[in-house]
Amino acid sequence: MRTVKVPLADRSYPIRIGSGLLAGLGKYCEHLGLGGRCAVISDYTVGKRYRKPALASLKAAGFKPIFISQSAGEQAKTLKNVQFCYNQLAKHRLERGSFVVALGGGVVGDLAGFVAATYLRGIDFVQVPTTLLAQVDSSVGGKVGVNLTAGKNLVGAFHQPKLVLCDLDVLHTLPSREFRAGIAEVIKYGIIYDAKLFARLERDLPKILAYDLITLTSVIARCCQIKAEVVGKDERETGLRAILNFGHTIGHGLEAISSYGKYLHGEAISIGQVAAAKISEQNTGLPAKDSARMTSLFEQAGLPTHIKLTALQSKQLFNAMRLDKKVSGGKVKFVLAKRIGQVVSGQIVEPSVIRKSLKQ
Ligand SMILES: NC(=O)c1ccc[n+]([C@@H]2O[C@H](COP(=O)([O-])OP(=O)(O)OC[C@H]3O[C@@H](n4cnc5c(N)ncnc54)[C@H](O)[C@@H]3O)[C@@H](O)[C@H]2O)c1
Ligand SMILES: [Zn+2]
Repeated sequence: MRTVKVPLADRSYPIRIGSGLLAGLGKYCEHLGLGGRCAVISDYTVGKRYRKPALASLKAAGFKPIFISQSAGEQAKTLKNVQFCYNQLAKHRLERGSFVVALGGGVVGDLAGFVAATYLRGIDFVQVPTTLLAQVDSSVGGKVGVNLTAGKNLVGAFHQPKLVLCDLDVLHTLPSREFRAGIAEVIKYGIIYDAKLFARLERDLPKILAYDLITLTSVIARCCQIKAEVVGKDERETGLRAILNFGHTIGHGLEAISSYGKYLHGEAISIGQVAAAKISEQNTGLPAKDSARMTSLFEQAGLPTHIKLTALQSKQLFNAMRLDKKVSGGKVKFVLAKRIGQVVSGQIVEPSVIRKSLKQ
């Protein structure tokens, strides 16, 4: 097992990464001194497989868990479902000292985290991420929230978990398309922060795709370490944290125009990162050979790297990008790469350059 610490003074917390950790959920919560009553929030798909071991582990450690289930998928990240959770917590008399366990992918983590951030003005919570994307990204850093019809993640809070438990065994039941989508975030860390990680991915991708435990543990740990370091320096995204959005301006736009359906988040940001690389070649001097290495790595991971848009879709994409949170004063801002391992944020890009990047 590897442990990575998120350094946030009195709100610091460990991320534990390894095999067989779900069985120890109760013990870890006990060691943290968490309160007696708790609620495990999950979705139907994850609940079917992992509800039993999670509840058994909590009960064995003396907790009295209730279980709350949501439908699976992005459509579940709504205020209506948040309200459903509040009502369950109130009905079962969860108190200020109680805690929430988010058992699932990023959707469950964001939703359950938002419930924990706001119920009784905030109670403790633990993340048990069950997708690769959630393990390397969404479970770490304390951003929680839900979608509005007007856009993704428009309502939310910063609420750090007390613990993140990444059990690699659960990844075996994750559909391979979802697993590959998570790799898009893994590659992102190499591009934005760590050229060595990127080179390692070029070498070890086959091992990752074969779920090699040692490789996966150390790669996931490295990604968590990078996110922890970035969040430790800039928890509220006033500067540095924005680099985590590499590929996300176009990515979020693509997700929005396909009504959060056609592309998985990781697939959308794969296309977004390749487009951002093309823009970077023109605007921040990214060497063409670095850009080609990026495209090739996404391709090797079986991720989409290009999209053909009709004129109408292209217009919709620009409208969606203008609605994105990274927009200020009507200008769409990008994170761009100078080379693999180094990016700059807050870059204003002309619409014509964005269009060209999507056509290549
Ligand atoms: N808070 C943040 O910092 C942050 C960062 C990145 C992404 N996100 C959010 O994360 C969400 C995407 O998360 P995701 O990609 O994990 O999607 P997800 O939570 O929808 O999970 C994907 C699918 O896999 C299923 N699943 C999950 N774990 C499984 C397992 N072990 N075995 C079998 N099936 C399993 C789920 O039921 C779901 O159908 C988006 O809403 C995005 O906005 C948040
Ligand atoms: Zn992302």
